[in-house]
Amino acid sequence: MKHLFLSFAIFLWVSSQLQAQKYTELAATPPMGWSSWNYFLCDGLNEKVIKEMADAMVSSGMKDAGYQYINIDDCWQISRDANGNIVADSTKFPSGIKAVADYVHSKGLKFGIYTCAGLYTCAKRPGSRGYEYQDMRTYAAWGVDYVKIDWCNTDNLDAPSSYKMFSDAIRKAGRPMILSICEWGVTKPWKWAKDIGHSWRTTGDIADNFDHGLYADDGKVWGGGVLVTLDMQRTLQPYSGKGQWNDMDMLQVGNGQMTFNENRSHFSLWAMMCSPLMAGNDLRKMTDSTKSILTNKAIIALNQDALGKQAEKIIDEGRFQIFRKELSNGEVALCFLNRSELRVTKRIDWQKLNISNGKNFTDLWTGKQQLISTTDEISIEGHGVWVIRINSGKM
Ligand code: GLA
Repeated sequence: MKHLFLSFAIFLWVSSQLQAQKYTELAATPPMGWSSWNYFLCDGLNEKVIKEMADAMVSSGMKDAGYQYINIDDCWQISRDANGNIVADSTKFPSGIKAVADYVHSKGLKFGIYTCAGLYTCAKRPGSRGYEYQDMRTYAAWGVDYVKIDWCNTDNLDAPSSYKMFSDAIRKAGRPMILSICEWGVTKPWKWAKDIGHSWRTTGDIADNFDHGLYADDGKVWGGGVLVTLDMQRTLQPYSGKGQWNDMDMLQVGNGQMTFNENRSHFSLWAMMCSPLMAGNDLRKMTDSTKSILTNKAIIALNQDALGKQAEKIIDEGRFQIFRKELSNGEVALCFLNRSELRVTKRIDWQKLNISNGKNFTDLWTGKQQLISTTDEISIEGHGVWVIRINSGKM
């Protein structure tokens, strides 16, 4: 009898471990896709846009570069029916959400949706409070693969228990769905969410600029442009890993307010930091330069590297910084960042960076390969980066 009980307990433990592993594996590398919010906000969202975005993700080469998810953000929902089921806004989604999900799937892509833990979403649409299990069941029935859960109008809710309920509800709904926690870092989700969600926002909303901050009423920095968001990650490297990513928010690449260099730096840094890569621009009318940034496979490979290690800042001279990311094959990537508006020219001290003479590296934006020598000098334009991969093989 004792043995039987023990075997049963072991069986339960093993199956819960296997289930946990399966859940983690859904985001073994940072999720990549596109989301509607940064460009379309509330008013611009509708099913035509979503379908055209799925088309453009394929025709632009984004899908080939690794992007998978087409995510609807806030404003798709309007009310609840008599049974409490969430109802889509029929002016925006006349065919219903399931039809849109089917269309996205027919393109070989995955489909994501948005809700909020509070009574109302941030744009005042119905939230999921009190309907956590029911909503996740509905999403599963629609074929949703990714759920972003926001944190507006939550009053006295406790973030860890609220998000735990969503995670239980997702598992119970029986369809694998990524849980993207969007609580803006308020209660330090990196400390409690590792077994609950696959990623968690670490800051307030990203703005389309390089270095301006957004401040909360208490004067604390809340989020902002690229550098402000980057600086807010400084203590978070240990919390990132397989199935548990620090989310620096959706990309602003190609949304018009940043220069080519700034967009390139933005993308390189998000990749180095293992942030999810969710494009936030209009994929139907990308310029070639925007496309060349978003589809740079060598940079994307850093983000999607199997080791899943977020970069660390190893040199900080104020306006000039160096980030180092370890990669699964024993190689490393370095990102040299010029935070100032003026060009920076410098001699590289390879020894200080622990990189020996005789090795070679690839410049991941030009594709050029070069041998390391003691006299190497770099010159980086204002707000620019130099991203290199130190190769283990010979040239
Ligand atoms: C919050 C989130 C954003 C976006 C909007 C939608 O601000 O942080 O990413 O989802 O809500 O209303």
